[in-house]
Amino acid sequence: MTAQIRVDREKCSGHARCFAVDPDLFPIDESGYVTVRVQDVPSGQEDAAAAGALACPEGAITISAPGTSDVAE
Ligand code: F3S
Repeated sequence: MTAQIRVDREKCSGHARCFAVDPDLFPIDESGYVTVRVQDVPSGQEDAAAAGALACPEGAITISAPGTSDVAE
């Protein structure tokens, strides 16, 4: 199983701090809102994905742990 990025678009307020951590994992639109909803985390990018989730002040990003149905921030 691959870890997944999940973004709650309702919580996203356009801080773009996730984008600042990794613009490839967390692309944003012209208003600064992340455009990802659900995306597999590429192999080797787990730390960047976790850092991006932690960087969001709204708690909009969660990372699902591979091989489980649990969701960790
Ligand atoms: Fe949105 Fe949080 Fe990123 S508010 S743009 S998901 S840092």
